[in-house]
Amino acid sequence: MNIHALLVNRFAEALEKLDVTDAPVPVSRSARPEFGEYQFNGAMALAKKLKQKPRDIAERILEAVTLDDVAEKLEIAGPGFINIHLKDAWLANQCELALHDPRLGIAKAPQQNVVVDYSSPNLAKEMHVGHLRTTIIGDAVVKVLEFLGHNVIRQNHMGDWGTQFGMLLAHLSDKLQEEVAETALSDLEDFYREAKIRFDEEEGFADRAREYVVKLQGGDERCIALWERFIDISIKHSEEVYEKLNVSLTRDDIMGESAYNHDLANVVAELKAQGIAVEDQGAQVVFLPELADKEGNPAVYIVQKSGGGYLYATTDLAAMRYRSGKLNADRTLILTDARQALHFKQTELVGRKAGFMQPEQTYEHCPFGMMLGSDGKPFKTRSGGTVKLAALLDEAIERAGNLIAQRDSDLSEVELSDVARKVGIGAVKYADLSKNRTTDYMFNWDSMLSFEGNTAPYLQYAYTRVKSIFRKAGVSLATLPGEITLTEPQEHHLAVLLMQFEEVINVVSRDATPHVLCTYLYDVASAFMSFYEACPILKDDTAQPVRESRLALAALVSRTLERGLALLGIDTLEKM
Ligand code: ARG
Repeated sequence: MNIHALLVNRFAEALEKLDVTDAPVPVSRSARPEFGEYQFNGAMALAKKLKQKPRDIAERILEAVTLDDVAEKLEIAGPGFINIHLKDAWLANQCELALHDPRLGIAKAPQQNVVVDYSSPNLAKEMHVGHLRTTIIGDAVVKVLEFLGHNVIRQNHMGDWGTQFGMLLAHLSDKLQEEVAETALSDLEDFYREAKIRFDEEEGFADRAREYVVKLQGGDERCIALWERFIDISIKHSEEVYEKLNVSLTRDDIMGESAYNHDLANVVAELKAQGIAVEDQGAQVVFLPELADKEGNPAVYIVQKSGGGYLYATTDLAAMRYRSGKLNADRTLILTDARQALHFKQTELVGRKAGFMQPEQTYEHCPFGMMLGSDGKPFKTRSGGTVKLAALLDEAIERAGNLIAQRDSDLSEVELSDVARKVGIGAVKYADLSKNRTTDYMFNWDSMLSFEGNTAPYLQYAYTRVKSIFRKAGVSLATLPGEITLTEPQEHHLAVLLMQFEEVINVVSRDATPHVLCTYLYDVASAFMSFYEACPILKDDTAQPVRESRLALAALVSRTLERGLALLGIDTLEKM
C-alpha cells in the first residue's frame, strides 16, 4: 500500500472536478500527530493562480475530494492546509491485506533496466575500508531495486588495468622463480609495497616495469598469462570479503577496466571526429566551458595522454557507451566516494555531447563521505596503515561474540557463533547504511554494537522479541485468523507506520539512500516496543479477539523487520 500515492490520486481527481488541470498535487507527511498523518498543501499555490482566498479553495477541494473510505476526518488548518486523519477500520484492513501477501502489499514499479556500478576495488591492492561503503550501500540499493521488480545489472568496475601492472608483473615474474603465485600474492599489500620499493630504488627495474606495460598492452602471451594469474588471485581476495559480508556480487558481475581496453581508441577517435576532443600540448582533451573556473577558463578533460596512454576517464566513457547502448540502461548508478564527483560530472557532460547516452537515460553518481576513525581523521590502523576489510570483519564477529556471551542467554556454542557472525557483520553494515551516505561517517565499535539506539543489534533483538511472543503464545502465523481491530493510539500509530513501507522503499530506489529504510525500521521497532508495553497481548485478561488482533499486528511487524533487514543485507535471528 502506498498511502501517499493514493492520496495524490484522490486529490488529483478532486482538482479535475474543479477544472484545475496540470497543477501540482502536493501531499506530504504531517509534522505532528494532531495534524493527522498526511497533509494536502496545494491550496495556497492555487489561490495565487486563481486569485482567490486559499481557505476558500481548500474548502472547495474538501467538498470535491472523495476520501470517506480512507479518512476519519479532514480539516482545514492554518492558511489552507488540509489535514488528513486516517481511519482505523481502513488501516486495519490494509494491514490484514499486507499480512497475507508475500510482498507485504508492496506493488512492483514499472520495470526499468538499472545498471549499478559498485564495490569496484582496485586489484593491485587488498580491499580496504574505502571499499566498504560502496560495497555495502550498493548491495542494499541493488536489493531494493530488485524487490521493486527492476532488471538490475550489477557492474563491478574493478581496477584491473593500468601502468601499475607493469611494476607488479615484473615483480611477480621474479618471485615465481622461487614460489607459486598463491604464496607470492598471499598478502597483496606487502606485495605491492615490495614492488614499489624496487620500482623506486632498484636499478633497471623501472625500465623492466615499463617494458611489461608495453608487452601487456600489446597482448604478449606470457605477459597476459601472468596478468591473469595476478587478477585471479586478487579477485579471490575480494570474494573472501564478499562472502564474509554476504553481499550478492559474483564473478559474473565483474566488468573491470580491462574489459574496455579494446574500445578506448574508438572512443577517442569518435570524440575527435565529432570535434569534441581536440589536441592540446600533444594530448587529446575536451574543453568544458560549462565548468569554467572563476576567470572563465574552461575545465580540461583529458581523454588521451601525450604519450598515447588512456586514462580512467576514457574507460568511463567507454563504460557509459556500453551500458547505455548494449545494456540498454534506463538508469546508471555509480557509487564511489565524493572525491570523484567532479570526474563523473565531467564524464556525463562529455558523454552526452558525444551522444554516448540518450537524453532520457540517466547517469547518477551517488557519492558518499569518508569513513573516519574515532579521532575524526581518515580511518587507519594504529600504526597508520590502511585497515584491511577481512581483518576488520573478523574483529566485528569476535567483538559481537564477546558481547553476546556476556548477556544471559541459553544459546549453545554453535548457536552463539552463528549469532556472533550475524550480529557482528550486521552491526558493521548497518552502521554504514544508517548514516546519510553523503556525510563523513565515524567508525565506532561501541556505538555500532550497542543494543540501544538505531543499530543492527537493536533491530535484530526487536525481531527476536516478536518471535518469542509467538513462541510463548504457541501460535504460528499460518494458524492466526489475522483479523485486525485498531483501538488504542499505539496500535493506530504502529499500523500507519507499517503501511508506509512501500513509500519508504520507493524513496530508497529513487535516491539510492538506504539510511531512509534504516530510520524507518528503527521507527517500526520503537513503535512496536511502545505498543507492546501499552497493549498487553499475552495477559490472561486479554480477550481472545483482541489478543488475536494484536498478534496479527505483531506478525506484520516481524515480517516488515525481516523483509526490511533482508533488503539491507542484514540477517535476522530467531533467538539471541
Ligand atoms: N576503482 C575505483 C576506485 O577504487 C572505483 C571505480 C568506480 N566506477 C567507475 N566506473 N569509475 O576508486
